[in-house]
Amino acid sequence: MALERTFSIIKPDATRRNLTGKVTAMLEDAGLRIVASKRIHMTKEQAEGFYGVHRERPFFNDLVGFMISGPVVVQVLEGENAVAKNREVMGATNPANADEGTIRKTLAESIEANTVHGSDSLENAKIEIDYFFSPAEIVG
Ligand code: TYD
Repeated sequence: MALERTFSIIKPDATRRNLTGKVTAMLEDAGLRIVASKRIHMTKEQAEGFYGVHRERPFFNDLVGFMISGPVVVQVLEGENAVAKNREVMGATNPANADEGTIRKTLAESIEANTVHGSDSLENAKIEIDYFFSPAEIVG
């Protein structure tokens, strides 16, 4: 087993509904430790850069608009197999397809307003953590 770090965002649909604590508790209950956390309101440029891989997808503009529609909480999560563990507790992108007990099944509103982001690989986790956090902000 490997101790990993992954990157998470509690999205605007969740901060708007006051679900920051509930989402954080579900992550912690899954065995993930929050080693960095801050509430920010992303700029358009920040959101476009973050979702750059999706730039050509039809949902890109709506996704960026949604991600800057309110504050988000960006977090670094640490734990054994943290990347896969976080993806498991998040559930499928579309909450209609997510397993019972997952964050998205329990809390998400739609495929767009789906409550959480989580890195999909260890490589992307490092890139995404570096995009939002300086090393001094992460306290393991
Ligand atoms: P993606 O990386 O495919 O999913 P995940 O967040 O589960 O890793 O997509 C990124 C985000 O883009 C997703 O969380 C919500 C949004 N999205 C849409 O709005 N519509 C779509 O059809 C898809 C596939 C994603």
